[in-house]
Amino acid sequence: MTTTTTSGVAKLLLNDEEYDLPVVVGSEGETGLDISKLRAQSGAITLDQGYGNTGSCMSDITFIDGEKGILRYRGYPIDDLADKADFLEICWLLIYGELPTKAQIGEFRRDLTVHTLLHEDMKKFFEGYPPNAHPMGILAAMVSSLSTFYEVFGKGDAEEDVYLNICRLIAKLPTIAAFSYKKSIGQPFIYPDNDLTYCDNFLNMMFAVPSERYRVSPVLSHALNMLLVLHADHEQNCSTSTVRMVGSSQANLFASVAAGITALWGPLHGGANQKVLEMLRRIRDDGGNYQKYVAMAKDKKSSFRLMGFGHRVYKNFDPRARLLKKSCDAVLAELGIDDPLLDIAKNLEQVALEDEFFISRKLYPNVDFYSGIIYRAMGFPVDMFTVLFAMGRLPGWIAQWKEMREQGGRINRPRQIYTGPQERKYVAIGGRG
Ligand code: ACO
Repeated sequence: MTTTTTSGVAKLLLNDEEYDLPVVVGSEGETGLDISKLRAQSGAITLDQGYGNTGSCMSDITFIDGEKGILRYRGYPIDDLADKADFLEICWLLIYGELPTKAQIGEFRRDLTVHTLLHEDMKKFFEGYPPNAHPMGILAAMVSSLSTFYEVFGKGDAEEDVYLNICRLIAKLPTIAAFSYKKSIGQPFIYPDNDLTYCDNFLNMMFAVPSERYRVSPVLSHALNMLLVLHADHEQNCSTSTVRMVGSSQANLFASVAAGITALWGPLHGGANQKVLEMLRRIRDDGGNYQKYVAMAKDKKSSFRLMGFGHRVYKNFDPRARLLKKSCDAVLAELGIDDPLLDIAKNLEQVALEDEFFISRKLYPNVDFYSGIIYRAMGFPVDMFTVLFAMGRLPGWIAQWKEMREQGGRINRPRQIYTGPQERKYVAIGGRG
């Protein structure tokens, strides 16, 4: 669909030459200067380290207004979706652009259900990892491995072939995630149960053991659904840009998403949810003195940052953090859990929100600040937190990969300003002292 208008030109003056840059305006009024011809016309490129001002694509999928704290999937506000929508509906919405009809979602559920099993040979891979292997490393390797088990498709392939791999990926990711956890604690794998819903099946594979009856708690299942919905897409963040970057070389879906998983793992991105919990524990073990940690975060000589605070795009409350904070209280109350880490988190948040350092830099809690506390209350170990983020983000990665593929753009290939030595002569080892 991509609703854009060109609205006049911006003028650039460079070395006394004037260049016209077309102005592109998105459907929500965002304005971009189209510099795609600038180098050909002027020999100059733009420099934007960290891409804070660079639009890498035009996209119909997700809208964020970071100043106002707005997040919408295909036009639907996250506040409406978080509590009401089923995660699989959101997968469909993101990937295919509209909320599914009853018939579409019925068929989609069936198609996912028949792909939940892993190839038995893939199970053997888990034996090769050390017992303390981080599940994100396993997840990335396993998703990449899917491309060796299934036919991967090229540029002009039929939609139904692409659909098949999309179903495989969405269906198998929870199985891989749960198996990597079971491997890490030395328990037998629990196979998928196709009578269960997507969330119930995952919880069952995570927490059931063959020797005992396990009933999935509806409270946990509802909380998991909401967490997955809240994480489902976030436009051109680090991992999604990675998926699009890798996919732009026409790498297959599994390979592109595996790259996204590794990008997500970093502590400045999805890995922050694990780091938040580690930070809260550290504060608790240090006597609960959260003011000390706020002071450390402000100290320019210290490399310490308040994990779960700040965002490249949100300069207001991250709407997902707002929803999670509310649901954190509800989930803990329903589960009857009194978690001192939640009190530390709330105190930390309050102190930071009233502090000039954080106010002037517009640093607010992000999605990772509260998600870890809910995951912990649900019984997930800390190093599974980022895996849960990846499960949630999967439909966004797929939707963005599919959109990029359909837009048929060029391979993504940024330029650089070279700052190294100018040409010099090679000196053989004997002449180097
Ligand atoms: N604690 C203390 N100070 C901070 C924090 C923080 N969490 N975040 C930013 N700042 C300060 C910086 O020191 C900098 O101060 P200065 O202007 O005096 O130098 C200013 O705020 C701007 O920070 P940048 O690093 O330039 O902001 P950027 O947009 O590059 O980074 C990021 C955003 C990575 C999220 C950053 O805020 C951060 O490191 N947060 C902690 C990690 C985290 O929670 N990551 C999850 C992000 S959400 C997600 O990916 C799902």
